[in-house]
Amino acid sequence: MQDVDVDAILRNRSECAANLIPALQDIQSRFHYLPESALRTVARRLKVPLTQVFHAATFYNCFSLEPVGRHLVQVCLGTACHVRGGQRVLEKVLRELNLPASGTTPDFEFTVAPVRCLGCCALAPVMRVDQRTYGHLQQSRVPKVLKGYCKPAMAAV
Ligand code: FES
Repeated sequence: MQDVDVDAILRNRSECAANLIPALQDIQSRFHYLPESALRTVARRLKVPLTQVFHAATFYNCFSLEPVGRHLVQVCLGTACHVRGGQRVLEKVLRELNLPASGTTPDFEFTVAPVRCLGCCALAPVMRVDQRTYGHLQQSRVPKVLKGYCKPAMAAV
């Protein structure tokens, strides 16, 4: 089934190696990760060695070989964020989502990932949910931020 979907994604692109990264971006966006079967299809269709496809898929942080949640929660633990309470923010996020450690919730709604710098240190401590950045984040704001990404039924609980 995924091969069919990958074929559909690749249909809009010329089949050459220059389209490797855009193709992987499209697949990541569609499936929220890069299934192995999809990588094999990309290699075959773009005529790129499978090792090169895996190299690209594992080199860039924007790609994942494991299924991730609908929302990606990145909590910065870089130096600026660390000294301003980034670890406490991460611990609060994990408590709110009932996760023992970084990873994906059982319902695949959230994936929590510590990162080393989100590039906006002046806003430390920083957390990013999907494309939105939350700066000067205190633990007390975490539940409200996360609630904004919950499905309506969950948010009401
Ligand atoms: S250290 Fe957190 S944004 Fe740079």
